[in-house]
Amino acid sequence: MSNTEVIKLGNPLLRLVSKLIPDNEYGTNELRRLSEKLFNVMKVESGLGLAAPQIGINKRAIVFGMEQHPARTDLPPIPYTVLFNPSFEPITDETYADYEGCLSVGSLRAKVSRYKSIVYRGFDAEGSLIEREVSDLHARVIQHEIDHLDGVIFLDRVTDYHSMGFHDELTLAGTFNSREAD
Ligand code: NI
Repeated sequence: MSNTEVIKLGNPLLRLVSKLIPDNEYGTNELRRLSEKLFNVMKVESGLGLAAPQIGINKRAIVFGMEQHPARTDLPPIPYTVLFNPSFEPITDETYADYEGCLSVGSLRAKVSRYKSIVYRGFDAEGSLIEREVSDLHARVIQHEIDHLDGVIFLDRVTDYHSMGFHDELTLAGTFNSREAD
C-alpha cells in the first residue's frame, strides 16, 4: 500500500458525514475486506488509528490500536480493534488537552481538549458488540476517529492556536512532550 491512499485536508470527502453500516452488511466479505484494508493502511502509515473517510470510503468504520507507545511506555497497550457504527459517551465531564495529529493533516500538531474517560460501543465485521470503558490516550483516539465519521478534523477543535506547530519544531522547542493521536 502506498501513502497516497490516505486523503489529505482539503479533499471534500473528509468533510462528509459517513453512512451507517446497514445490519445486513455484517458478516459479509465486503465488511471483512474494509476492515483488512483499514488495518493495512494504518500499519503502513504507522498510525494509532484510521477512519474509513480517510481512505475515501463514506462508511462509519474506524480502526485503532498500539502495542506499546514509542515514548510514553507507561501507557497501557490499546487492543487492535475495528469498530463499525461506533459511538461513545463520556463517563464524567472531565476533559484534558493534549497534542494530536492526523494522517490526513501531515506533521502539524496541536492541543485538543477531549473527555478523559468514556464508554464506547461498536460492532466487529461479524456484527458482535464491542463495548469498553477507557481513559486517556485510548479514549482520545476513539473521540478523534469518531469525529472523522462526522466530517470533523482535530484542527476544528483547537482552542489554543499557540499550541499549534510542526512536529519537528515542537520537538526542538521541547514543548512537544507527548505523541499525538493519529
Ligand atoms: Ni485523524
